[in-house]
Parts: sequence; C-alpha cells; structure tokens
Amino acid sequence: MDIVCTPDELQLFTTIGRVAAELQLQCYLIGGFVRDKLLGRPTKDVDIVCTGDGISLAHAVAATFHHKPQVSFFKTFGTAQFCLHGLDVEFVGARKESYSADSRKPEVEPGTIQDDQLRRDFTINALAISLNPNDFGSLIDPFGGIDDLQSQIIRTPLGPDITFSDDPLRMMRAIRFATQLGFAIVPDVFEAISRNKHRLKIVSQERITDELNKIMAAPKPSIGLHLLFISGLLQEFFPQMVDLSGVEIVEGKGHKDNFYHTLQVIDNTAAKSDNLWLRWAALLHDIGKPATKKFEEDHGWTFHGHEVVGERMTPRIFKQLKLPQNEKMKYVAKLVALHLRPISLTKEDITDSAMRRLLFDAGEDLEDLMILCESDITSKNKMKVKRYLENFELVKERLKEVEESDRIRNWQPPISGEDIMRIFGLAPSRNVGVLKTAIREAILDGHIPNNYAAAYEYLLQKAAEFQLMPVSD
Ligand code: CTP
Repeated sequence: MDIVCTPDELQLFTTIGRVAAELQLQCYLIGGFVRDKLLGRPTKDVDIVCTGDGISLAHAVAATFHHKPQVSFFKTFGTAQFCLHGLDVEFVGARKESYSADSRKPEVEPGTIQDDQLRRDFTINALAISLNPNDFGSLIDPFGGIDDLQSQIIRTPLGPDITFSDDPLRMMRAIRFATQLGFAIVPDVFEAISRNKHRLKIVSQERITDELNKIMAAPKPSIGLHLLFISGLLQEFFPQMVDLSGVEIVEGKGHKDNFYHTLQVIDNTAAKSDNLWLRWAALLHDIGKPATKKFEEDHGWTFHGHEVVGERMTPRIFKQLKLPQNEKMKYVAKLVALHLRPISLTKEDITDSAMRRLLFDAGEDLEDLMILCESDITSKNKMKVKRYLENFELVKERLKEVEESDRIRNWQPPISGEDIMRIFGLAPSRNVGVLKTAIREAILDGHIPNNYAAAYEYLLQKAAEFQLMPVSD
C-alpha cells in the first residue's frame, strides 16, 4: 500500500520534520490522514504527533512560511492548529492517557509514539509515518494496522473493554467506520460494544449525533443502523426507532417489520439523493406506526394516522437528538406528514384538484417527497413493486401536466391577508384567516378560477356570511 502526496503536502511534511529536528523533537503523521491516504480516500485533515510540546512545534513551523498561517491553540489540551494550502493541520504532543471511569476528563502525561499509538481507537487509525529526516516516510505500525486495512477489519490496539472505557464514543465510531469503509468489526470488539453499551450514557448527545449523521451520510446507512440495533447501542439514545422493530401476529396475520422496512427506505433514498435531511425523513417516515398500530377484524393490521403522529414526534426527536431546531426540522416533519399522499394518487378516478392540492402542500419540496415516496415502495413481491412503480410514474406525469397548466407550486392566492384587512377595514383576526383559506380552497378545488376578479367576487359572498361589507376597493 502506497501513499500519494501532493507537492504542497510533501513540502509541508518535510518542513515539519526539519523544524522538529531543530527543536530536537520527533514527529509523525498519524490517524485518519494516514488511513485515508493508504485507502486512496480524499482527506484534508492532517494530524501531527510529536514527542514534547506540540504547540511550540506548530508555532515554529508556521513561522517558516512567507504568508505565516494563524495558529490557534488550546493550552489545556496541548493542541495547536493552522490551515495551509487547504489543509487543516493539527499538532499534539504524544501522550499516555487514561480517562477516569465516570468522566471524559483525561489524565494525561507525556509519552512515546508507541504510547500514543496504543491509546488510539482502532489499529487502522493508529498507523504513523515518520517525518524525521533520518527515516522520513517510514511506516510505524506496531499493531498490524496495515494488515487490518488490507483485510478490511476494525480492531482495537488494546483489549476493546479498555479502549471503549477510555472513550465510549468509540463504540459509535467503530460502527461508523464499518459503515463508511464497508469494513467488518471483529467479533470480540463487537461483543465488547454490546457489553459496554450503557457506558454511552456519559457521552454528550452532540458527539453521538455527529457519528449518527456520518452513518446517515454514508452510501448505505442501513449497515450502521443495523449494527447499532443489534449491538443494543441504538436503544441507549433512540428508543423510538427500536420500537419500530418486530412483527406481531394475530389470527395468523402478521405485519411487516417496520424497522427493517425503514432501513430499506433509507438505503433507497440514499441511492437517489445525498440530502441528509431527506434521509432523515426516510428514517422517520413510519416512526408514528408503533403508536397507531391496531388489529381490526375486517382490515387486519392498520396504522391509521401514523403520518400525523410521526409529524408530531419529529420535533421531539430532533430535540432529544440535539438535531437543529430550524427549517431542516420543519422540512423533515413536512415530508413525514405528506409521505402517503403521492401513493394515494395512484388510485383511479383521481381528480385534478387532488393533484393541485399536493402540488400546493409540497411546494418546493415536491421532488424530494417523490423520492421518499418511491423509496417507500418495498415489497418482497417483485411483480407488486413493478406495478406500484409503473402507477407511480403515471402520477408523476399527471402532476407535471397539472403543474404546467395551473402553476400551483410556489403559488400564492390572488388575494392576500393584507388585501382582506384593507378591503373590510379589519384588524388582524381569525376572520381574516378564515376568508383567506376559503379563497385558497375554492381555487384548489376548481370551484373558482385562479384570478383576482373571481377571487374578489367569491370573497364578497363569503364575507357576507360574517355580515362584513367592503369599506374600499
Ligand atoms: N481518535 C481516537 N479516539 C477518538 C477519536 C479520535 O483514538 N474517540 C484518534 C484516532 O487515531 C483518529 C484520530 O484521533 O484517527 C483523529 O480523529 P478524528 O479526526 O475524529 O477522526 P478521523 O480518524 O480522522 O476520521 P474522520 O475524519 O472521518 O472523523
């Protein structure tokens, strides 16, 4: 396995080695940069570890450049960082480190490169390359990291219980790397994750969610979500998702396992879009099913209103997982609420007004909704899937036709709330909203044409029901 560096990278690494030698320090490239270079993956995060003080080394290296990069440093952690040639370069002194059992606060003492490698999370992340002038470029691999990269396995340098108790987030990281790289976690490491799952409690939700989002952003998120589930980690921070799992059978009738169905929908969505939030909508689309599940004599298993319950659960789950409380959350909740609508339009005798209504409700998110809905068509029966997909294509065609003739997306009714207040001399009030909605509904239902004159006439009729008279035009 070889490493290919750019001329800028090579010049930086030679400089670091030379400056470190002048300061009588030894220094090495380590961690993700080495791993990703060996795998031929793009990487911009350079980690340098040196014996002695990483902060002094960073300042001395930065000072050699004509355009001296700005160095930021954290004295308490002994780390320093600067950006150069688009690379994020971080320096740290080699450490022996152990975390006390009940906190993330490390007790640190200076160590050798071997000590430092030993306290890293996985053998594939503990590979180092010397930058010292006497053996520049040589690989230091005391724990078989190269073999593990070649065999595509995730293993810890120390016994996994020790590695995970040093930082329990590493259990999430193991699963995240398995998902991103398509590597296997060796059995004793996986067993240690199950054994230590409760230790995740001492890790902040932000760090956990960061890893979860990296799993969600991978080409096949189901790999990681499945591992989180079977290891028991998922239960620790996301029990609502675990509730989707399992099949209940009544009178010989079972329903599908909504956990594995959801994983399939996420993978289908991921194959069509890189949008993380669309993938989250896929994750949450059926989250309301456990709460709405019923067995009905005539219909078998039903999940009536699960899309409404799911829409309501979305903000709570976002808060619990420390996901953003902003328009991303609203977007996910909206897609969860609407996820059944396009497929309901595959039935026969669907009116243009139903199409208009969906165009209006989905607005600029229609394409994403269609991706979600198409991804939701999963069945073991290939013929059934084929038939659904064909019907779905017809819906897409009709939506396109209705949109072309009516321009409903991003549409605003011809009379606004402000217009209504002005026409009737009203202050903001409930009646204004009622009248505004009545106009919109009448147009969407095709009762009146989409223009000002028709809307104004309709408004006068409706307003008369409230004894309202126009004060001006
Ligand atoms: N590391 C560790 N334990 C952690 C986090 C990080 O041992 N909990 C070590 C690993 O050697 C890792 C390096 O610190 O390679 C850098 O960490 P980080 O930047 O978080 O991860 P990368 O491995 O670089 O991967 P990515 O950039 O994909 O997050």
